Amino acid sequence: MAKYEQLVSQIQQQIHTGVWLAGDKLPSLRKQAEHAGMSLMTVLQAYQVLESQGWVVSYPRSGYRVAPKMAQQVQDTMAVQPTESVDVNDFIFDVLQASRNPRMASFGHAYLDPALAPRHQVNKSLTAAVRTMPLSSVVDNLPPGNDELRHLIAKRYAAQGMNISPDEIVITAGGLEALNLSLRAVTRPGDWVVVESPTFYGALQSLENLGLKAIAVRTHPGEGIDLGSLERALQTHPVRACWLMTNLQNPLGYSLSVEKKQQLAALLNKYQVHLIEDDVYSELYVGDSKPLPAKAFDAQGRFTHCSSFSKTLVEGFRIGWVAAGKQALKIQKLQLMSTLTTSVPIQLALVHYLTTRNYGSHLRLLRRTLDQRKAANEACLKAHLPDCVRIYNAEGGYFLWVELPRHVDTTALYHLALAETISIAPGRMFATSDQFNHCFRFNASFALTDAHQQAIARLGELVKQLI
Ligand SMILES: Cc1ncc(COP(=O)(O)O)c(C=O)c1O
Repeated sequence: MAKYEQLVSQIQQQIHTGVWLAGDKLPSLRKQAEHAGMSLMTVLQAYQVLESQGWVVSYPRSGYRVAPKMAQQVQDTMAVQPTESVDVNDFIFDVLQASRNPRMASFGHAYLDPALAPRHQVNKSLTAAVRTMPLSSVVDNLPPGNDELRHLIAKRYAAQGMNISPDEIVITAGGLEALNLSLRAVTRPGDWVVVESPTFYGALQSLENLGLKAIAVRTHPGEGIDLGSLERALQTHPVRACWLMTNLQNPLGYSLSVEKKQQLAALLNKYQVHLIEDDVYSELYVGDSKPLPAKAFDAQGRFTHCSSFSKTLVEGFRIGWVAAGKQALKIQKLQLMSTLTTSVPIQLALVHYLTTRNYGSHLRLLRRTLDQRKAANEACLKAHLPDCVRIYNAEGGYFLWVELPRHVDTTALYHLALAETISIAPGRMFATSDQFNHCFRFNASFALTDAHQQAIARLGELVKQLI
């Protein structure tokens, strides 16, 4: 691909994703040349091609601006995407299964590096729990789950200034069960549910499983869901619920500002729509304090807040919870019909860990380590990927979102990389359309060992081949 074509494709992508809006002035030829490391002639050629294709308009002495009609057309078609039937499960299953190979450089799955768990302490808590488990423990821990654990979780909310009663908390088998039960509690097959675009694939699987229809709403990698597009979706479709992440979104990584969370809450209240808030990563923030969820602004009791210990303590415990508000009883009944109860020894072990160990100090170390690892992985990717590739690195968490030129198919990249025991999460997993087929998510929670550096270098070569 010639250099000017790379720039054409880059700017088209940026118009697609809403970086440049109708009427926006593109950088001057000189600035663009400096920024892209290209000659003035190359940039001029790219701008002229964009003009001939109707993407931009040139104004004498004022430079190039994004053509209103084209940008509007792209943004309107991409902003709200209704899908009658979601069908992603098989592909996601294959991608996750591939991660089971122990020789795999696993940049594709969403699990935290297991070496970051306080394994020794957790094992001691497990042993203590099993030793002291009373005979009545199964009955004691039936839904809504272990009483002490629900109180401990309620206290963590209180520390954030949120008033969540232990009575409205239901302990679940991981965050995913909390989310699935919440969705079942408020929807019936055939209902419309809003998701982000791109969204966590678990949401798409859940919608597929429950026979729900998806409306994918435009979501900006830096600023999150576009509230204007969301309102348009709420006006044009009888939306029953929204499944959204307001903190450290998977796959993009952004967190909504407090103001935007308040606006979101007000909008959902105005249209009387349920919010199923997926908040499994919020402990992995960067900064002074844990970000509040939108649940903190729930004026009408229609928001269920779902989280877990999977991303912060041990993935394998499979313990999560939902602060379910008015849905608490319904969720307990649904749980009783499906899983009966969350594993008792594991609930007890968690109570033991939280009451005898310093979870806060573990979290502080975890946050610091992840921040360093994400920066190191990003630098390594930057060193090996061509300049036309854009890496989004939002604050906190451990995901990087990598955007290749629009014509590159990351499902093809995924297959090529997999043959060399490198896994990535291709954009196709996160959407109901092919809109993100040129992107992939990268799990940066692992230490940048020599083997990982080699894998990233090889990934870079494969990307160059495809470009
Ligand atoms: C965004 C998101 N939500 C929910 C989950 C599921 O959480 P858990 O492992 O606690 O079930 C995951 C796991 O990857 C996730 O990434």
